[in-house]
Amino acid sequence: MATDPNPGGLISLLQDIQARYGYLPADQLKAVAQKTGRPLTDVYGVATFYRSFSLKPRGKHLCSVCLGTACHVRGGPIIADEFSRQLDAPAGETTADREFTLETVNCLGACALGPIVVVDGHYFSNVSPVGVKEIVERARAGLDRVEVKTDQRIFPVEVSCARCNHSLMDAEHLVDGHPSIRVTLAFNSVHGHIWLSSLYGSFNVESDHEIPMDTVADFFCPHCHAHLTGSANCPVCETPMVPMIVRGGGIVQICSRRGCRGHILDIGGQVF
Ligand code: FES
Repeated sequence: MATDPNPGGLISLLQDIQARYGYLPADQLKAVAQKTGRPLTDVYGVATFYRSFSLKPRGKHLCSVCLGTACHVRGGPIIADEFSRQLDAPAGETTADREFTLETVNCLGACALGPIVVVDGHYFSNVSPVGVKEIVERARAGLDRVEVKTDQRIFPVEVSCARCNHSLMDAEHLVDGHPSIRVTLAFNSVHGHIWLSSLYGSFNVESDHEIPMDTVADFFCPHCHAHLTGSANCPVCETPMVPMIVRGGGIVQICSRRGCRGHILDIGGQVF
C-alpha cells in the first residue's frame, strides 16, 4: 500500500528548514525525526521524494540539463559537459561561489525541442554548446527579472476552460496592463478567486486571499465549475498542472504550486 507522502505535516516542517538553510542539513532532519516521533527513514523518505528539497547546499541558480532519451540523442550530454566546463562544477554539484547548482534530469516534457535546459524555472530549447555561455551569463544577471513592456520572451495568450470552452479572460481586471485570466481556486479550507497574468512568461497574480508560497491549490472554471486538472505533472516540482485551452489552438499548462514557475505552452506541437 502507498504511504502518505506528507505524514504529520512533515512537508511544512521540511519547507521551513529548506527556506531557512537553502537545503536540509542532516542534523535538522534528525531534529525533525525527534520532534515528530517518526523514524528518520520516514523523514528522509519525504525529503528525497520531492525535487524541491535538497540534501546538499544549493546555489542561487539551478541549472537542469535534460538527459532524457530525446534530449540525449540530440546532444544533451555535450550540453551538460559544456555547462560543467563553463561553471567549473560537475553535474550534481554546486559552484565554489555558491552561485550555481548543476544537475542532470530525465525528460522535462518538451522533447520535440531538445536539448532542453531549465534555469531557475526558465526553459531553453534547442540549446547548442555555443549558447551555454550566454545562458549562464543571463542567469547570473537575473532571469527572473521580467520587463513586461519590452521583454520579448513574454506574449499575451487568451484561454478558455478545457471542459466547457467558456473564455476565462477577465477584461475588467487587468494584470500587467492586459485582461487577466480569472479562475476560482481552493486550498486548505479557503475558496476564492485568482487573476493570473495573461502574458506568457509573466508570473504576476492577484487574488482575493493570501496564498502562502508553496501552497498547492485546486483550480476550477468559474463558469462550469469543472476541476481544471490534467494528467501532466509540473516539469519543475512534479505537482499536478492546470490545463487551459489557448484561443487559436493549443494548450497552456501552469503549475498548481504557488511560487513555482513550471509552465508549458504547446501550440501545434511546438512547445514553449
Ligand atoms: S527528453 Fe528532454 S524534454 Fe523529454
